[in-house]
Amino acid sequence: MSQGLITAAYIIAAILFIASLSGLSSQESAKRGNYFGIIGMIIAIVATIASSQVSGLGYITIAMAVGAGIGVRLALKVEMTSMPELIAILHSFVGLAAAFIGFNSFLGHAPLIGSEQVIHNVEVFLGIFIGAVTFTGSLVAFGKLSGKINSSPLSLPGKNWINIAAVASSAYLLVSFVTGDLGLAALIIMTVIALAFGWHLVASIGGADMPVVVSMLNSYSGWAAAATGFMLSNDLLIITGALVGSSGAILSYIMCRAMNRSFASVILGGFGNEITTNSGDEEQGEHFATSSQEVADALNAAKNVIIVPGYGMAVAQAQYPVAELTKRLRAKGKNVRFGIHPVAGRLPGHMNVLLAEAKVPYDIVLEMDEINDDFTKTDVVLVIGANDTVNPAANEPGTPISGMPVLHVWEAEKVVVFKRSMASGYAGVQNPLFFKENSEMLFGDAKASVDAILQSL
Ligand code: TAP
Repeated sequence: MSQGLITAAYIIAAILFIASLSGLSSQESAKRGNYFGIIGMIIAIVATIASSQVSGLGYITIAMAVGAGIGVRLALKVEMTSMPELIAILHSFVGLAAAFIGFNSFLGHAPLIGSEQVIHNVEVFLGIFIGAVTFTGSLVAFGKLSGKINSSPLSLPGKNWINIAAVASSAYLLVSFVTGDLGLAALIIMTVIALAFGWHLVASIGGADMPVVVSMLNSYSGWAAAATGFMLSNDLLIITGALVGSSGAILSYIMCRAMNRSFASVILGGFGNEITTNSGDEEQGEHFATSSQEVADALNAAKNVIIVPGYGMAVAQAQYPVAELTKRLRAKGKNVRFGIHPVAGRLPGHMNVLLAEAKVPYDIVLEMDEINDDFTKTDVVLVIGANDTVNPAANEPGTPISGMPVLHVWEAEKVVVFKRSMASGYAGVQNPLFFKENSEMLFGDAKASVDAILQSL
């Protein structure tokens, strides 16, 4: 393929990637956005392989077939609730690839002279640094999201100084590497530091802030890909990396604002966070258990109902009976709406996706800010598998969720919490909501509980 054709293909692919991102910004156009991304990626891969600079087509084909096989198998197998950990592990691959390409580019590149050599060395160094940080950071995120590692924040003594020392020593090694005082040794020492730095950065962030970490690692993986693009002189990789890097950074910023977190603090591994208490699963008073029949009676008597779904609804796959319950209550003339917290579930928009899948009308699914003032005028709130996102402890200082805005469900006349036990939520903070006088617990799997209410209505 001629260079002109390749450039044209890259431009088309880049436009498709931009259209893809724009499509992904709303539920209605998300599917179209995905298709644009897939077509763009096919064009990009075909054009790259067809380039005269690429050799070893046999190896590439085998590697792609094996990779595609594993990818398809994982994608078909993965549960919706495990998507964030799959995304985290995929980010780790991008980081690892960037680090390998960096070493390859250093060891296998023909010698350059003058400023070209300096620029190339800086690209190699930064590519490996960002790649190594992304690799271990994403592995820790994978561990925390999949429950293989405790999600509470690691707090090593002098943790901020450890981070500052890692950055300062890497900066020193960059200078030594570029000036040629230390060659490969500088790269190897920096890689070890960057691997430890990435691990420490993410380990220091608590469970409730994991959504921001995932989008931040998404951003890092984009910058790692862009650095690789510079090393390989591949314009499309630079553009794609920059798109992923900047959109991930914007998403992290939006999430930090929604969760009332300092962007700088999250990026710097929980810099300045003071956690003094972590109430765990300890009960804080008496709770009242209710039955599906009593909940059905309360719903029959109610005029205004708000449903607040959370991660437990996804685990139970209760969205279909919840949609049926909504339909039945609306048919009886009740005002039923949904209150969605920005980080409910385990990935951005998780609840919206599940409710859309069960055909709940978009116009009754409201964001936290749109509905938070309405709880005082609500007869019954059904909290279905949500916990951290309705925890009033967020309004008190000293817990891992302190400062995070939550849905004020306790302001309603009656709150029914659907869950299986008195266990705490993802952030490990016990929920005082369960012990309030207007709260009742409906114990059991959320799907079975909603099915039972449907029978009793
Ligand atoms: P969580 O705080 O995770 O609580 C979910 C609750 O669902 C648990 O208390 C659990 O209690 C219950 N549950 C689990 N399986 C259930 C089932 N089959 N039936 C009924 N209940 C079940 O939920 P949330 O309010 O949605 O908050 C999300 C948390 O995840 C936040 O801390 C957030 O920061 C974090 N997070 C979010 C994301 C994104 S982007 N959304 C990503 C990573 C982390 P039992 O075990 O007692 O049943």
